[in-house]
Amino acid sequence: MKIILSKNRTLFTFLSAFVVVTVIMLLSSFGSAGRSAGVIDADTLKGLKDFYKDYFTIGVAVAPNNLIGAQAEMIKKNFGSLTPENVMKPGPIHPSENKYFWDDADKIVAFAQANGMKVRGHTLTWHAQTGAWMFKDSLGNQVTKEVALARLKDHITQVVSRYKGKVYAWDVLNEAIVDDNDTSKVFRQSQWYKICGEEFIGKAFQWAHEADPKAVLFYNDYNTEVPVKRDKIYNMLKKLLKAGIPINAVGLQGHWHTDDPSEKNLRDAIDKFSSLGLKIQITELDVTIYTSRTDTVNIGFTPEREQKQIDFYKMAFKVLREKKNVVTGVTFWNVSDASSWLDRPRKSYPLLFDVNLKPKKAYWEVVKF
Ligand code: G3I
Repeated sequence: MKIILSKNRTLFTFLSAFVVVTVIMLLSSFGSAGRSAGVIDADTLKGLKDFYKDYFTIGVAVAPNNLIGAQAEMIKKNFGSLTPENVMKPGPIHPSENKYFWDDADKIVAFAQANGMKVRGHTLTWHAQTGAWMFKDSLGNQVTKEVALARLKDHITQVVSRYKGKVYAWDVLNEAIVDDNDTSKVFRQSQWYKICGEEFIGKAFQWAHEADPKAVLFYNDYNTEVPVKRDKIYNMLKKLLKAGIPINAVGLQGHWHTDDPSEKNLRDAIDKFSSLGLKIQITELDVTIYTSRTDTVNIGFTPEREQKQIDFYKMAFKVLREKKNVVTGVTFWNVSDASSWLDRPRKSYPLLFDVNLKPKKAYWEVVKF
């Protein structure tokens, strides 16, 4: 009898300890700024993508080294789509004329496939991160338009064909419109434009479409809510569509800050582009806590800056939810505040997850609707 009692006591002690430890673990893993301490509810078990399943796909930009350990688990929980942050860009994936480097892009695509996630391809044509060889002949002279276009065709055909059926959407053309309030200045003076004129634009979409007719083809840019630039993009797209160029969607990059864009400019941009029959995605979302490079007062994630960021994220997602008939995806540019391209030269805390991968207060506002 004594032995049985003592066994029961041991079992009871063990079970109590187990329950206490489990509760503590759950609290420390889910408890975060913005949730009252001690609250564990169904929401903490859901990921960001689950809250938005009836609205649009939630994605994230990644490097291969994001896809291991705790970060991989956090990504699987919260995101339904991956965008390679750098490794599918022309420079990294096509470093010289007869050499493609697929390994890093393949890793991201394989991870997405293994975990039932979509992939957005980024980007086929850009003025940056493109090998200088694209525009030079063997003597170092600038190539002709014919050679440049032939190289672009080969690049697009090879890359899109390799990932046909695995990459559902491509940023075919990135940032071709100039930031200039002068309405007579439209196109960025990139090497592509200087050598080929406007012709490379329509051709890029046609070649991407030929390589994968089912892929959703995007024009992608930043400052798309600034009315002057918005209208230049709109005019370009309208002309291309009229000429029968296969463009399906516009990517608003969404490198925003807590004062910009205004709610009105965000709504107007979505309405204007979608009036062309195009779908919309926010393709590179982050909201830095600094309003400019010279915004240097009270550096750091102060309560004031945090509140402004919360308010901005709340506003933006309210608008995006309202526009769910045309908005098909929202992709964050980097996983968490632990590491963002905006951290140079100072940390910018632009995302919904903190440096420990935990949801921030802004996260809980974004999922409260
Ligand atoms: O890969 C090299 C590495 O070998 C080298 O040791 C290291 C030293 O600095 O540089 C590495 O390359 C860096 C690369 O990111 C990968 O980390 C480049 O210097 C750096 O310039 C590059 O920055 C990327 C930037 O595009 C280039 O313009 C950012 O990570 C990336 O987030 C950013 O993404 C762009 C989108 O594609 C288009 N829209 C704007 C957005 C933000 O600029």
